[in-house]
Amino acid sequence: DARAGESKSAFTFEEVEVGIDETHHVAAGYDADVLLRWGDGIFADSPEFDPLNQTPESQAKQFGYNNDYVGYIPIDGSSEHGLLVVNHEYTNEHLMFPGIVKVVKDDKGDAKIEIAPADQKRVDIEMAAHGGTVVEIKKTDGKWQVVKDGKLNRRITANTEMQLSGPVAGHDRVKTNADSSGKKVFGMINNCSGGVTPWGTYVSGEENIHGYFTGKLPEGSKEAANYKRMGIPEGVYDWGNFHDRFDLSKDPNEANRFGWVVEIDVNDPNSIPKKRTAMGRFKHEGADSIVAKDGRVVFYLGDDERFDYVYKFVTTGKFNPDDRAANMNLLDDGTLYVAKFDVDGTINWLPVVFGQGPLTEANGFASQADVLIETRRAGDLLGATKMDRPEDIGPNGVNGKVYVMLTNNTKRKDDQVDAVNPRAKNAFGHIVEIAEEDGNFAATKGKWEILLKCGDPSVADVGASFSTDTTKNGWFGMPDNCAVDAEGRLWVSTDGNSPKDTGRTDGIWAVDTDGPARGTSKLFFRVPVGAEMCGPLMLPDMATFMVAVQHPGDGGEDWKPFGRPSYYEDLSTRWPDFKDNMPVRPSVLAITKKGGGKIGV
Ligand code: FEO
Ligand code: CA
Ligand code: CA
Ligand code: CA
Repeated sequence: DARAGESKSAFTFEEVEVGIDETHHVAAGYDADVLLRWGDGIFADSPEFDPLNQTPESQAKQFGYNNDYVGYIPIDGSSEHGLLVVNHEYTNEHLMFPGIVKVVKDDKGDAKIEIAPADQKRVDIEMAAHGGTVVEIKKTDGKWQVVKDGKLNRRITANTEMQLSGPVAGHDRVKTNADSSGKKVFGMINNCSGGVTPWGTYVSGEENIHGYFTGKLPEGSKEAANYKRMGIPEGVYDWGNFHDRFDLSKDPNEANRFGWVVEIDVNDPNSIPKKRTAMGRFKHEGADSIVAKDGRVVFYLGDDERFDYVYKFVTTGKFNPDDRAANMNLLDDGTLYVAKFDVDGTINWLPVVFGQGPLTEANGFASQADVLIETRRAGDLLGATKMDRPEDIGPNGVNGKVYVMLTNNTKRKDDQVDAVNPRAKNAFGHIVEIAEEDGNFAATKGKWEILLKCGDPSVADVGASFSTDTTKNGWFGMPDNCAVDAEGRLWVSTDGNSPKDTGRTDGIWAVDTDGPARGTSKLFFRVPVGAEMCGPLMLPDMATFMVAVQHPGDGGEDWKPFGRPSYYEDLSTRWPDFKDNMPVRPSVLAITKKGGGKIGV
């Protein structure tokens, strides 16, 4: 066999060449078909997408903006018919709305963009473009289609009625002008990654909630330190000018009702989503889970901020595979733990529980509700390890390990380096592998090691640790989302590979974790200019790989030379439609092998 000894990798696809251009690229022999674009109708009566005449009402019946997490809940166990669940993390006004962008020169003569102030209608469209989508999809003759009259199809927005559930529900600190019960909340915002529970519900993490609040807390407010720790208010969006609840001066407690994991029962399109407060309040990335040996369910949770923490939540009750209803409140009762990574390779999971250790009245906590509202401060007091921006965390049921994506942290100084965050000015991030004690995901102790230090291995100063079999296409930086497929193989998607610096885009890399190829990585898919790579999700039969292309055509401060700040000013890509009258559109793609079959093998 001519190939013997040539590749020890678990992946046999032909690697994509890195580069940057107006469209996406997938490995040879695969199709990547657009399944859902921003503005596509997801109901039988959804209006056609009309970018020049957007309304909040039409947006609420169409696929939302900036698809991030993608999950799949099979119907009757099928990998060809099920419910797709998708987070709509945030909106990019300059790419969505015509005529609102001006290019101006700054002091140094460099071009930058200015966006016109919002009006009520624009804000209401933005709010309807946030949240999530639940939509029935079906594969026929090898191609996926949306079932527009699916009875379970649903849009969740920043206005959907939700319930605060668990220890914080009804607490004084979550009562507002509109809600004296402290239980009734409207909307979820900035939902980044998420998960699907073993009992078939959709869980979704509220991440950068600070950007939606404006105004000043009343003088002497007891929430001042709490909000400061969460970066509230940042005021990226103008919602507070049109909806008082986002103005801290008018409704000082509203921000305590965001920053949670939301659970959505997809089997009932009228169910009230529940904010599961037992899982803590922080900038939640994902919520991937796995059933431990004894039947308890373990959720791995990242808090995406420089120097913040890795958490896990272990349910008190056990998963009942024979009775879905019996599992529906498992997430209200359990133990939240925060991770301490020791220099000897031990990880200790410290309980974030009122009355234990420093989490007492002496430190300003009167109950578990207080501890959960200020989860970050509890982690500070417990001495948890300050990480380089924890993003997705993927438990692997095949090899028993857990993979933690740490995206980057350029602010870590030399004297802040530690064993598990070993690089100062960590521009490219790294991946940590955890092995829980005795293979028990519910254990309070385990071992950790670094799987990969990311970045260009040909630049010695970067200190990357990809295997020498990794090509110039195979290395990556800024790991963000991850997927573990049915055979236990790891796929990593990235956020932030800069066009200016590298001539590369974000994409999906297949990473060997076991055997002689451990630490080898290969590029499978890359995004159009300006986009971020989200998803990814391998369906159970491994014949479909769903990926989410977020904010194509965006460039932020780096929009030169490829991008333009608005599609009315000659944006350099019009992905995925490439039509003059269509803006760029964040989209979910379904990747299949030509002729069918398992992906990556
Ligand atoms: Fe929305 Fe942490 O990425
Ligand atoms: Ca994102
Ligand atoms: Ca993310
Ligand atoms: Ca990210």
